[in-house]
Amino acid sequence: MSAQQDLPIGVFDSGVGGLTVVRALMERLPLESILYFGDTARVPYGIKSVTTIEHFTGQITDYLLGRGVKMLIIACNTMAAVASGVVKGRAGSIPVLDVIDAGARAAVAQSGAGAIGVIGTPTTVNSNAYARRMHALDPAVRVYSQACPLFVPLVEEGWLDHPVTRLTAQEYLRPVLAEQVDSLVLGCTHYPLLKPLLQEVAGPEIVLVDSAITTAEQAAVRLNELGLARGGDVLPSYEYVVTDIPLRFQTIGERFLGRSLGAVEKVEW
Ligand code: DGL
Repeated sequence: MSAQQDLPIGVFDSGVGGLTVVRALMERLPLESILYFGDTARVPYGIKSVTTIEHFTGQITDYLLGRGVKMLIIACNTMAAVASGVVKGRAGSIPVLDVIDAGARAAVAQSGAGAIGVIGTPTTVNSNAYARRMHALDPAVRVYSQACPLFVPLVEEGWLDHPVTRLTAQEYLRPVLAEQVDSLVLGCTHYPLLKPLLQEVAGPEIVLVDSAITTAEQAAVRLNELGLARGGDVLPSYEYVVTDIPLRFQTIGERFLGRSLGAVEKVEW
């Protein structure tokens, strides 16, 4: 195994949400090491301006590149929607994947009647990034988007099955469901943590599209294409760095991943 193959995949989000992508990566690519960055000091991003998000995203990208990674995965729809150019501009020859591309492909591929709902942060919804990617894949598809700003704090709080969260979801989903959508894209990496609750509110006939799984699949393909897949029989390493209060991240993260995270470090930068 070469030194480059042995490097971790850098995965980043504004907080705990990107762990949905980490979980999918661990399942699909069990030999790969992962270096995760959660910007817990500055979450939520989804209500911030494009300029601010670009600035934060640039800092995180530089940090991960400085640590040494063989691939970058933007595990945050908000950053992918407005700042993927910043990441690609700094990454040079390091491949960059993002959850919006993966989610848009998965939704268009599986949507029957061509009416797709997208829920995300205000910044993601206002950027129109999902609708643009989906229309590029299939111009006939109808896309109905809804910003759900309260979901991220509810997830960060760990209120994954709470009456307040259920009521909030009913309010947010009403207009999208009225459009008879056949699928609903979870356009924020925090939202898969709410999957059972959202499925209950949306009804069993609506397919929830979780881009984490598609992103992991894309990562597997790209690593193989580029000859960067990690082999051998040395166990992978998982490392988590956050910008504030590691314990809080650890508690919610472990509940979600269903495994111990090990040491979560506060970044020094
Ligand atoms: N999890 C992020 C996303 O996918 C954003 C959450 C936030 O910081 O607002 O959009």
